[in-house]
Amino acid sequence: MNVRRVGILTAGGDSPGLNAAIRAVGKAVITRHGMHVVGIRDGFRGLVDGRVVSLDSDSLAGILTRGGTILGTSRDKPHRMEMGERTIDMTERARENYHNMHLDALVCMGGGGGHASANRLLKAGLNVVTLPKTIDNDIALTDTTIGFDTALSVATESIDRLHSTAHSHHRIIVVQIMGHNAGWLTLGAGLAGGADVVLIPELPYDLEFIAESIRQRSLGGRGFSIVAVSESAKPHNPDDLSIDGALPIDEPTFEYAGTTLALTRRLEELTRLEARLTILGYLQRGGTPSAFDRVLATRLGAACADALANGTTGVMVAARGESTDLVPLHQVAGQRKTVPLDHPWVAAARDIGLCLGVPLDL
Ligand code: F6P
Repeated sequence: MNVRRVGILTAGGDSPGLNAAIRAVGKAVITRHGMHVVGIRDGFRGLVDGRVVSLDSDSLAGILTRGGTILGTSRDKPHRMEMGERTIDMTERARENYHNMHLDALVCMGGGGGHASANRLLKAGLNVVTLPKTIDNDIALTDTTIGFDTALSVATESIDRLHSTAHSHHRIIVVQIMGHNAGWLTLGAGLAGGADVVLIPELPYDLEFIAESIRQRSLGGRGFSIVAVSESAKPHNPDDLSIDGALPIDEPTFEYAGTTLALTRRLEELTRLEARLTILGYLQRGGTPSAFDRVLATRLGAACADALANGTTGVMVAARGESTDLVPLHQVAGQRKTVPLDHPWVAAARDIGLCLGVPLDL
């Protein structure tokens, strides 16, 4: 297949480094491979609506360091798209627009949902290549994802800052960290920031066990504790978090605040230490990408352009060590990379005596 004209879209939650990736794909296809490139606005919504913008060397300049995505994004899925009052399968419209835009290939930069949608479009006959981006680091078959490193730094710096105030006030500070259903961000930031307790969705926690580890710290003369908790971490026994007989109300759109707030209150009751809650939220996703994410995005983007020039589609451009790998898209779609309990980060946390919410006999 001879790829002459490429479209780029960004789908799902934004993540730092997306603009670096758009820039890399765009510059490499234009300058190295002599192709044309256009941007599609607001993810798959823009493909269905036919919203296209031209991209050239000028529009791709000056975006390397910018957070967010110059193309805009959305969580819309072509096969289940809200159109006014109704939810409709718009795959056929997406396919028509792809042809109306005279595209030979479509580059989708997405997370878990984005990969599932891209795979559907692949099955519908579009030539698709994906780049893994999400601060959650939960995409299968890639070493890491664009945005994770930046978010990890933000969360780590936040824990650093929370230490001094927790220490001064002899408090527990619970800090809620993003990550969807994977604990990478929380575990990484907990290790890097020296949190005392780290709670991840892969290890449902025991409240009394956490309280006891905090009490032991107090008895040892450390009257403060930092508890880093993933947004979707849960207790093994939901009743542990009931307050006055009621269980917390949780909604992802409200940043899972109910469960984390209940955790904070229950720890205060059980330890008799004052406890405070900090939800990092969208601070983790916003702002300028780290040097690592800029380099990663540039590497993956350049490899993506090479794949297109070779006529290879139906793949995700994965990070593999210092190199890249082309992984069949169908092997990635629908998979989620959570933290394996035998992962070296878990072992290191256990070995240094960090409380992971449950006794670990691994
Ligand atoms: O997938 C990235 C992520 O930031 C998750 O960590 C978080 O759960 C979710 O997106 C928030 O999504 P939204 O931007 O739709 O509120």
